[in-house]
Amino acid sequence: MTDQDTTLRPRAEAAGDTLSLRRPDDWHVHLRDGPMLSLAADLTARQFARAIVMPNLVPPVTTAAAAEAYRERILAALPPGRDFTPLMTAYLTDQIDPDELESGFQAGVFTACKLYPANATTNSAAGVTDVGKIGKVLERLQNIGMPLLVHGEVVSPEIDIFDREAIFLETILAPVLRDFPGLKVVLEHITTEDSVRFVEAAGPNVAATITAHHLRIDRNAMFDGGLRPHAYCLPVAKRRHHRQALREAAVSGSPKFFLGTDSAPHSKHDKESACGCAGIFSAPTALESYAQTFEEEGSLDRLEAFASEFGPRFYRLPLNTSRIRLHRKSQRVPDVLEQGDLRVVPFHAGEDLAWQFQDEGFD
Ligand code: NCD
Ligand code: ZN
Ligand code: ZN
Repeated sequence: MTDQDTTLRPRAEAAGDTLSLRRPDDWHVHLRDGPMLSLAADLTARQFARAIVMPNLVPPVTTAAAAEAYRERILAALPPGRDFTPLMTAYLTDQIDPDELESGFQAGVFTACKLYPANATTNSAAGVTDVGKIGKVLERLQNIGMPLLVHGEVVSPEIDIFDREAIFLETILAPVLRDFPGLKVVLEHITTEDSVRFVEAAGPNVAATITAHHLRIDRNAMFDGGLRPHAYCLPVAKRRHHRQALREAAVSGSPKFFLGTDSAPHSKHDKESACGCAGIFSAPTALESYAQTFEEEGSLDRLEAFASEFGPRFYRLPLNTSRIRLHRKSQRVPDVLEQGDLRVVPFHAGEDLAWQFQDEGFD
């Protein structure tokens, strides 16, 4: 599919109480490993045909062999009948070998590379300490057209946590794009008006994902009547006007902004701790959450392009041909999801959502 291809575009049909969409993809998700994997993978595979799977396991996914093995574990964790394609990513380190990335990309194992500034977020200790150290890697990515996915925050403890994304744009991403103007970049999980403007002003090789939760919460959600660990993620939610800029970007119809949930489950115990983990588990009702936001913005007719078209066009992958449905039917999101010994609190826990995803063949 080319960027210009508009022939295969049945518009989302909102026939009153049913919303029918081309099946969406999730362009940024954490599926984890071990016991969490079967819970997380199934919930993502219910709603999405494909997903860009983050490589921040312990140890991280840095080789094509590790990515293939992880992909097999993901597929093995799914119940029979789920039609789901995990798109694998390589975790960049200071030492990563550009040949390994290129051969993994050419072999169809890696779809993209992920840049975690060292210690910026969950399981990023092995990340890149200085982008100056991976110049050869960036040059290679630019040459072969392999996308670079970016956690865009500086890590310096002197910099206020609410400013880390904006300062990353100025001090890291702008110089990288000056040095490598053809590099394909996705600025992941954007949280600021600054990022919206940066991506809008950049060339067509630069895009961004927007999460369901950053479209709904602002920074006050973390302190609503007490400390709220389940509203804590990285980058942290910002002021209300930033949330509004994200909403406007998501419903704008610009192909530079597309769906990436950053669904990032941690156990209830690890979240509700003196040093709680960052991450919001939005996979269980991801599409319902986006639909609610788009409806509030009077833009339900723009949801399909954001969820199902702009991502594959950026990645130059075919659009999905099957369709999914959401029904206007109120649902109460559970307080906690349990599987074996595992307890995980989902995004929207205890809230009512207006839409409900129809799980074809499974409900
Ligand atoms: C993610 C995680 O838990 O892996 N956490 C988060 O708050 N978003 C890491 C990340 O995407 O930065
Ligand atoms: Zn991140
Ligand atoms: Zn993430």
